[in-house]
Amino acid sequence: MSGRFEKHGEVGVILVDNPPVNAIGHSVRLHIVESLKQAAADDTVKAVVVACAGRTFMAGADIAEFKTGQKPPYLPDVIAALDGFEKPLVAALHGTAFGGGFEVALACHYRVALADARVGLPEVKLGLMPGSGGTQRLPRLIGVEKALPLILSGEPVPVKQAAALGIIDKVVEGELLGEAIELAKQKAEAGGPLPRVSKKTIDRSALPENYFADLRAKVAKEKRNLNSPQRIIDAVEAAATLPFEQGAAKERELFLSCLGSPQARALQHVFFAERQAGKIPGLPKDMAVREVNSVAIIGAGTMGGGIAMNFANAGIPVTILEVSQEGLERGLGLVRKNYERSAARGRMTAEQVEERMALIRPTLSYDDLRGADLIIEAVFETLEVKKQVFTQLDAVAKPGAILASNTSYLSIDAIAGFTNRPQDVLGLHFFSPANVMKLLEIVRGEKTAPDVLATALTLAKRIKKVGVVTGNCHGFIGNRMLQEYRREAGLLVLEGATPGQVDKALYDFGMPMGVLQMGDMAGHDIAYRSRQEMSPEDYEPKAYRVADRLVEMGRLGLKTGGGYYDYDEGSRTPKPSDVTQKIIEEVRAEYGVQPREISDQEIIERCFLAMVNVGCEILREGIAYRASDIDTVYINGYGFPAYRGGPMFWAENEIGLGNALEKIRGYAETVSGKWWKPSPLLEKLAAEGKGFADLA
Ligand code: COA
Repeated sequence: MSGRFEKHGEVGVILVDNPPVNAIGHSVRLHIVESLKQAAADDTVKAVVVACAGRTFMAGADIAEFKTGQKPPYLPDVIAALDGFEKPLVAALHGTAFGGGFEVALACHYRVALADARVGLPEVKLGLMPGSGGTQRLPRLIGVEKALPLILSGEPVPVKQAAALGIIDKVVEGELLGEAIELAKQKAEAGGPLPRVSKKTIDRSALPENYFADLRAKVAKEKRNLNSPQRIIDAVEAAATLPFEQGAAKERELFLSCLGSPQARALQHVFFAERQAGKIPGLPKDMAVREVNSVAIIGAGTMGGGIAMNFANAGIPVTILEVSQEGLERGLGLVRKNYERSAARGRMTAEQVEERMALIRPTLSYDDLRGADLIIEAVFETLEVKKQVFTQLDAVAKPGAILASNTSYLSIDAIAGFTNRPQDVLGLHFFSPANVMKLLEIVRGEKTAPDVLATALTLAKRIKKVGVVTGNCHGFIGNRMLQEYRREAGLLVLEGATPGQVDKALYDFGMPMGVLQMGDMAGHDIAYRSRQEMSPEDYEPKAYRVADRLVEMGRLGLKTGGGYYDYDEGSRTPKPSDVTQKIIEEVRAEYGVQPREISDQEIIERCFLAMVNVGCEILREGIAYRASDIDTVYINGYGFPAYRGGPMFWAENEIGLGNALEKIRGYAETVSGKWWKPSPLLEKLAAEGKGFADLA
């Protein structure tokens, strides 16, 4: 059993101890139920406290058990035992009382919490919903209109806010257990009926007319294609209309329907994939990392400024270097504007804006970088420019400082070769906007020292990014696969689809927007310029002929009012363009292409299976450690729908690897033998009937 039962005078303490996060696995459930029995049978115990050892109160059900299956007692049984307990029951919360942990707390009669604790029901993020009374008790405790947004967002609520909502009875600054025991004692002495949340009633008539129907429609738009948010609304509606026991039974039924769903399996894969990404095979988990207490950024462009914000947000001082005063002022002005926009939206105070700006120190001199623990270059994307920067960094940076490049395509080994300390050099590839996008590709050079990689992963967590280590190749994991995506979209338009059809199929699949519209947003000129420098052997000119023509006529995308689509002044809404359609037809004629009907299924298969095939090559070459790292990259950097688990998980679970291979072979025949050559790794897995997990 995970924990112990202690007696502190007349108060029994059920102490749960199941590191690292006190997940409510079988042994924890058993421990709580057995301890309650012991406390009930012992007349000298007048009240009970439920508390946890270690860094947090129970952070939820044990997610690993969802896969392996659970044994009784189940969590609803534990919760029922708590709710029905006849002596005062106090939950003592610290850390993150999440999911089932929060449901345990809601079933207790009183809740005491440390001031820096957080509570929440994050199940929705795992494709699930609270399944042990959360949807029934929370609306009873704080009202439907306050409870539902909290359950639907899955976001943690800081204790002070939770106390204001009426969730927490007492906020404690000092010794949590002592205060909880004291409260338990007082309540036992005071006697009287115990305040059970399950006995409270909800006044449905106080809700606005059509409240649930309107919310369902709103949530269907905001949480597109997701099932569990709708089930959450169903469950809370049940709380508002049915007696507690019936509502709880309804909740359980809905929970079980979510539990077995493909979306839940995919989102749980994502949860573990993101954590797995932080582990480097062969390196001890607790490897000593280098200290990073000061950072410098070279380049105050949009990227450099965005990167600097990440560190300032984490309280780490940043020096930002530009070649001209004007460039510096422009860059810092942009950063300030970004912060002020956040403040205007209520996400931070004016004081915090100033605090963060004060952490960013502008400079024109490399001499000011001497003390930095980490220096990140974010300048123009050519090797020549990188050479100038890294030669200077090598001359000024202190020994042991980590030197990073934000390059998206260039070789980290070539860049490391400009210094006499290649072991200290790596890629830190941020995604635009760098202060928003969660992904950080950590590029491992041939000579990068292991502790430098480990430091980068730790740092990623500190600045709230999801770090994924990638080997060194053109475009690393993400952009190398993106080329496949772009090429197929371009070819599909050439072969007969409209841009609108391609993008709609991708959007309906779950992407935030189609890849052609994404090109319009980013501007087609940068990719155009890089194509000019590429050998036509390395890309498919046909696929980009339309984009080239658009650029050559000044249609660079949104910023010029038109690209693949037309845009009204000041609007980001794409409209079909006659100009583009005419170009498409000319390009078809140029290549002698007879347009044909193209199905949405073909669009999805071509765009994503091409990526998956290259994903297999990335695995085979050892660029990515594991398939789930590729999924993590695509979800956090490119908006691939998390509820499909990432492209590799999607291929394995929705298509099947054998099927995927068949289709890839088919497209090798009909589209291109060159670009659709099946990956030998995929062939091997399919032949052996194995999956990506078997590669570990
Ligand atoms: N079940 C099983 N394992 C869990 C878990 C859970 N509910 N919550 C966390 N873990 C594991 C993680 O996989 C990780 O394992 P690892 O070290 O082997 O990789 C370890 O606990 C630490 O978690 P991590 O997320 O790295 O730590 P953190 O301090 O950054 O965050 C939490 C802690 C609790 C905030 C975070 O893990 C979390 O949000 N957990 C999920 C909570 C949840 O969704 N509960 C509802 C379940 S239905």
